[in-house]
Amino acid sequence: MNRILKILRKVKNLNFEIKYKDGRGRVGILKTPHGTIKTPALMPVIHPGKQTIQVADYGAEVVITNAYLIYKNDELREKALQDGVHELINFPGPIITDSGSFQLSLYGDVEVSNQEIVEFQEKIGTDIGTSLDLPTPPSVKRERAEKELKITLQRAQEALEVRKELMLNSVVQGSTFPDLRSECAQALGEMDFQVHPIGAVVPLMESYRYHELVDVVMSSVSYLPDSRPRHLMGAGHPMLFSLAVAMGCDLFDSAAYILYAEADRLLMPNGTLKLENLYEMPCSCEVCTNYTPDELRGMEKEKRRDLLAIHNLRVSFAEIRMIHQAIIEGSLWELVEQRCRAHPFLLEALRNLKNYQDDLEKYDPPYKKSAFFYSGPESLNRPEVHRHLERVKRIPPKKSVLLIPRTTKPYSEHLHHIPLEFYRIKGEPNLENSAEDRQVTVVDVPFGVIPLELDQLYPLAQNESPRIHDEDSILMVKNILHDYIKDFEEVIVSEKVLRTFRLDEEFPTKDEYSEPLEIIVDDVERIKMIADYQFGSGSGEALFNTSVQIVKSRKTGKIRHVYDGDELIATLRASDGIFVLAREGARRLHRYLPYPKNRVVVNEDAEPFAREGKSIFAKFVINCDINIHAKEEVLIVNEEDQLLAFGKSILNGKEILDFNTGQAVKTRKGGL
Ligand code: GUN
Ligand code: ZN
Repeated sequence: MNRILKILRKVKNLNFEIKYKDGRGRVGILKTPHGTIKTPALMPVIHPGKQTIQVADYGAEVVITNAYLIYKNDELREKALQDGVHELINFPGPIITDSGSFQLSLYGDVEVSNQEIVEFQEKIGTDIGTSLDLPTPPSVKRERAEKELKITLQRAQEALEVRKELMLNSVVQGSTFPDLRSECAQALGEMDFQVHPIGAVVPLMESYRYHELVDVVMSSVSYLPDSRPRHLMGAGHPMLFSLAVAMGCDLFDSAAYILYAEADRLLMPNGTLKLENLYEMPCSCEVCTNYTPDELRGMEKEKRRDLLAIHNLRVSFAEIRMIHQAIIEGSLWELVEQRCRAHPFLLEALRNLKNYQDDLEKYDPPYKKSAFFYSGPESLNRPEVHRHLERVKRIPPKKSVLLIPRTTKPYSEHLHHIPLEFYRIKGEPNLENSAEDRQVTVVDVPFGVIPLELDQLYPLAQNESPRIHDEDSILMVKNILHDYIKDFEEVIVSEKVLRTFRLDEEFPTKDEYSEPLEIIVDDVERIKMIADYQFGSGSGEALFNTSVQIVKSRKTGKIRHVYDGDELIATLRASDGIFVLAREGARRLHRYLPYPKNRVVVNEDAEPFAREGKSIFAKFVINCDINIHAKEEVLIVNEEDQLLAFGKSILNGKEILDFNTGQAVKTRKGGL
């Protein structure tokens, strides 16, 4: 099945590549006839014939204009047909054109057919054109949404038949019905389009229905091919960009920069300001540093509008750059959580993302450069927390557990700070458990339960949260503990944990525990547990069942390498505490994990390159484990499941299968 999908899509998906990922967000490059676009990108809307601002001077690499407005005006049409659209609007870079669908949604009618407008866009030399989709508004009757969706799909198909070389947008419609959005996305994804806008969301944004916007976007993107950029049509307010990017949107268009300026409003990353209310100019752009609010208010309308538009562009492009930075350093969620505090309904949208945790977790890279910063109860829903709670189940339970409170991280180096009052809340006093039968687990917000052996792993060691807990965190950890301790015969709890997370409500009887408690972390236990957590249950045994030698860093005292005799099995990476495989580790893991787990399967052509240790390009991959995340240690095999090489995935399993451009795996070593 995977293989067939891959071959079907092999046709023309050659213009987009992902460079960095965070959340569902991607920093990528999109190639067009007039140049390459770095995504996420903001495309200022250019009004043909009316434009007064040179948007390229303020950071625009790509713009969007309206082919229908050009088509309808005799003078503009003739000029565009003669000199091309780039000359007409005086922009040499990539130009996307819209088709008149928005005018259709405003006025109920347009004076052009789908075929005519597609052909026209090709003739005027647009880089990416758009078919005449029907923007079905939110909350219409289902019947109407279905009927219009059919027409949108027919027109998309027709556009493909009409176009020659033109790259094409194909807009996802379906009103506010998630299943119709998904159906539309899937159908369009199987056709040969280059970009997928998500349409008819302007009415949702205008009325602050961001919660529904999340449903519309998530039900669309999860059915669109990962190998094509998505454009959130009509989204031009910078406070929305980071959330949309975290959901997988790559392109935005802004008419807002000029429309808000016309209305004497200033766009800001966390909301909108009215010029009439300003005592001070609020930012550091050239407009805000060169003029006072009084000077601007006293100006003639047109000059003021252009200056405010420049501010609006500066702020919007700064936000886009901030998002690029956040994706590359792995702090996109932190940015989203800040921005979503700009408006209560944005916060509501952020909270709605909880319903898409499973999907978001698959796209979010498990290892990042940035620490996880807790910013409030919404952080409890982040993919990192969800993933940890799943992965911690991979660790086989022991007889007994000792629950201790947080200390300074890494916890195992600061155990002397733990208060010494403990209670036994489950099990018998005469239960003879030795230290080996006892799991020591730290209880903390937001990750809940952290077996002490995992205390150096990302993000369990690299996170910060306030020591004064909010009610949501307390309840969540209480629920996590409720499930976690079910598997243990004996549960001993620090008084502090008992009190903080209200375990006494559930366990009213408790024994004071007076025996001396010895807490030691065994090195072999530690490496096995990390491997189980990282690669799946039993992987620790499979990798380290022989008599292993553990080599520690002389400087930090932390585990660095694990050998069997002279043979290196794996190295524990200092920055995030995860295992990087060596040849022997890859062989052992390959023997243990059943096909296709943790594997990327390459075709015959790529086999010699893989064996030489060359990186694996997505187009050579014919199958892979769909559960692979980006930045994981993966096994590279051929169709007979012979191990060829191993390396680090750049994309997740779904993306690897979907892409035909760019790298899929950065190979560490071949020659296996
Ligand atoms: N601009 C804003 N919304 C839409 C839409 O749904 N379709 C098209 N083609 N353009 C838009
Ligand atoms: Zn400014």
